[in-house]
Amino acid sequence: MENNQIQTAARIINEGGLVAFPTETVYGLGANALNPIAVAKIFALKERPSFDPLIVHIASYDELKTLTNKPKDLVLKLAKKFWPGPLTIVLVKSNIVPDIVTSGLPTVGIRMPDNEIALNLIRASKCPIAAPSANKFGNLSPVSAKHVKKQLPGVDFILDGGKSKIGIESTIVTLEGNICTILRPGKITIDEINDALHGIFVFNTNKSEKITAPGLLKSHYSPTKPLYLLKEKLVQLPKKSGVILHGACDNSPKCEKIIFTSQNNNQLEIAANLFSSLHAMEDDKHITQIFIEPVIEEGLGIAIMDRIKKAVYKYESIK
Ligand code: TXA
Ligand code: MG
Repeated sequence: MENNQIQTAARIINEGGLVAFPTETVYGLGANALNPIAVAKIFALKERPSFDPLIVHIASYDELKTLTNKPKDLVLKLAKKFWPGPLTIVLVKSNIVPDIVTSGLPTVGIRMPDNEIALNLIRASKCPIAAPSANKFGNLSPVSAKHVKKQLPGVDFILDGGKSKIGIESTIVTLEGNICTILRPGKITIDEINDALHGIFVFNTNKSEKITAPGLLKSHYSPTKPLYLLKEKLVQLPKKSGVILHGACDNSPKCEKIIFTSQNNNQLEIAANLFSSLHAMEDDKHITQIFIEPVIEEGLGIAIMDRIKKAVYKYESIK
């Protein structure tokens, strides 16, 4: 990536514009997190409801200290273990964080992305960057610059960093007293967090109805064409069906097109190729509906299946 592209992007951020940029998870749609008018443009371009708070991206621990009041030791422990990386920590916000970023909540989600272009953009802009995924609200998450252009042609500038390496969004956690709650499953699994936080009770919100993160809806990440779960590989599929599988098999379903996210059910490959496979099916004019194989909900499979369930929800529920 040319340095002058980062400089141009940083100037746009400082002037209150929007820049889409790569991260290791998915592409983000960024604005200066401390400029409420710039942040309002994110909600407008994405058509995102105002109740859905944004994650603030930082490149240094100094920024963490200005965005939150005195982070506790446990927070620093988690951050030091997983940052830069796909972990968002929800913390009590300081007064400098505008209410529009957090949808009026007293807390803010913060993460340090593991992507040099993202980190250089934050450093060159000299401000923390608020960024949701760079897609229209509810639609497929973008894992390439092309995916961003398809959904958000009105963005001021796109930094093209190739394909996102992880392919699904960060794990989001809150820490309260001796309890760590995973609000959204992601690349970092509950076991990895358990290992990092000895003696702390870590649990997954999926197991409880009580705590939820605003903006985490049942339907999300959906393609514009109907998407269904492929429950059996040998069923008769309608004409013009596209099928997404996660491992090669002897009896592939009969259909217009098959995309394999992995040849052998490798979870890292499935995550990395999940959204790009869905985008490819969405863009293929020969396909009118998509079927996707479920994955086993273990380890990273929990986050993968979370995205698949939300992606099929609006179509499965009216079938
Ligand atoms: O990997 C990621 O996290 C990507 C990249 C761009 O960093 N970002 C991302 O942002 O997935 P977004 O806006 O698509 O999802 C952010 C979610 C919100 O929908 C909400 O559920 C949760 O983060 N969130 C943000 N701030 C929160 C807060 N203060 N309390 C609870 N949940 C929060
Ligand atoms: Mg999103």
